[in-house]
Amino acid sequence: MCGIIGCVGARDTVPDLIEGLRRLEYRGYDSAGIAVLNGDGVGRRRVKGKIRDLAEEVRRHPITGTCGIGHTRWATHGRPSEDNAHPHTDCGGTIALVHNGIVENYWSLKEKLKAEGHVFRTETDTEVIVHLVEKHFRGSLEEALRAAVRELEGAFAVACVSSRDPGKIVAARNGPPAVIGFGEGETFLSSDITPLLHHTRRVAYMDDGEIAVLTPDGARFATFAGAPVAKDAETLDWEPAMVEKRGFAHFMAKEIFEQADVVRDTLKSRVSLENGRVFLDDTGLAPDAFREADRVVLIACGTSYHAGLVGKYLLETLARVPVDVEYASELRSRDFVMDRRTLVLGISQSGETADTLAALRLARAKARAVLAVTNNANSSMARAADGVLDLHAGPEIGVAATKTFVGQMAALALFALAFSQARGALNEADSLALVQELQRIPLKMDRVLAGAAAIERAARRYLACEHYLFLGRWINFPIALEGALKLKEISYTHAEGYAGGEMKHGPIALIDEGMTTLAVVPRDRVYEKMLSNIAEVQARGGRILAVAFDGDAKASAAAEETFTIPETHDLFTPFLTVLPLQLFAYHSAAAKGLDVDQPRNLAKSVTVE
Ligand code: M6R
Repeated sequence: MCGIIGCVGARDTVPDLIEGLRRLEYRGYDSAGIAVLNGDGVGRRRVKGKIRDLAEEVRRHPITGTCGIGHTRWATHGRPSEDNAHPHTDCGGTIALVHNGIVENYWSLKEKLKAEGHVFRTETDTEVIVHLVEKHFRGSLEEALRAAVRELEGAFAVACVSSRDPGKIVAARNGPPAVIGFGEGETFLSSDITPLLHHTRRVAYMDDGEIAVLTPDGARFATFAGAPVAKDAETLDWEPAMVEKRGFAHFMAKEIFEQADVVRDTLKSRVSLENGRVFLDDTGLAPDAFREADRVVLIACGTSYHAGLVGKYLLETLARVPVDVEYASELRSRDFVMDRRTLVLGISQSGETADTLAALRLARAKARAVLAVTNNANSSMARAADGVLDLHAGPEIGVAATKTFVGQMAALALFALAFSQARGALNEADSLALVQELQRIPLKMDRVLAGAAAIERAARRYLACEHYLFLGRWINFPIALEGALKLKEISYTHAEGYAGGEMKHGPIALIDEGMTTLAVVPRDRVYEKMLSNIAEVQARGGRILAVAFDGDAKASAAAEETFTIPETHDLFTPFLTVLPLQLFAYHSAAAKGLDVDQPRNLAKSVTVE
């Protein structure tokens, strides 16, 4: 979704703004722009298209300034166009403003402002904010923005500059994230930390209902009501090198190959190889929460929802506890029943997905406790929850989630083990055997990844295939869903994920030589049933690809290609089965020359509903 960048200091900010926007590209966008204060007024450049187009526009029509803001726009209200690209300016052209979010009451505000004489030049909801700031401006940009945000309904992170109150950026937050970075004689604003890492590791996170005034010397914070807020800077533990490609063609490829380390890091210091105990003390969740809960609800969207489904099978098997997995957007609309014996997990790599955040807040009012399972321990979800299960996966830049999915599964495996141990559902010998196998998973993942070249060759051979059916059962049903999602989101190929048992209830009608079935068939408790599914596809002339254990002659005999994985415990097969599917999707998209890291229409974190 939209990205905001800001920089105020002594140097020309334009190169930093452009570079910052480049580092926000992964969030998803269709147009971009910057505005700087240049002594005479506001200089602005905007384009429909990519940051490289904006850089070219600035090269052809240079602007400079020591205080500026920039934006990547993901269109909601108004089509992608130069006119609708941010920053937007007021009637007088002295104020420039960028916004992430949606102004829900923009229509009534627009009508009112138009009646008062303001002239609108865009189709966006955002433009009402800059006119409101203009209306309330009496010499202080901070006071004008404070008055403006009091009239807004909806979600917003906003930043503005004005030639009538120069040398500062004023920002406000109510929903989408905003983080401030403290450099030497320069201060930065960003929607997330990736653009800041190259300037500083000292940051402060804005909270909802806050206004920040950034100057070269730092930032001060106050509430929308005007009460000062004291905030200490925090030091980031992410390194700048973590947001580079390190020789891979795409971030997604790099992130796929980092997955074994993600599992290692998620497990680190949380398991005992002596007795199999799992320690989740770092989550901040009260130990009683486990003992007092008799039901678990997992809330998420997209790939995180698929991780939640894997979590359900783990929890059911290990802890013998009832588990519901819910789409956050659906749960919000329902009369969902939960009580003080329900433990809720909000699963989100970004910790900022609007629906998951809202559902998690609803749950907090009803449930025993709410835990955020996230890769961003400073995210809105982390702050809204009772505890945080941090993935420690490092920054994920590719829009298609890969390493955070594996990190989520590892975190949920730990949670299931800890829950089972707290409830006495798992004895020490079984705990130890499971933890020891979990520790071996990263090595096995590396073995699967070492076979990437064969998967690339297969992906190239299947480039002409336009329809895929991904089949899996039990704990690999979510992996079938995830494999199909990966393929469609980055290679724009039609793919459906189904539970193997559902095939005869409809999808089998689709099987012919134009439909390839990708069967996830490790030798687990549903192995024979999956083999039957494969036979049914074969009998109808469908092409078959399989993910199976090393040396599985039965699965290989039926499939045109088999992507093999080492044997492991039934419950941990998803860590391995998902890898060939990610690689298949990646190589299908890369071979087609598609924009793998920034697929069309998608945003890395969906911060509007
Ligand atoms: O940040 P989150 O994990 O909450 O994001 C949820 C989904 O938007 C995300 O998983 C999406 O489906 C990805 N594009 C999947 O690759």
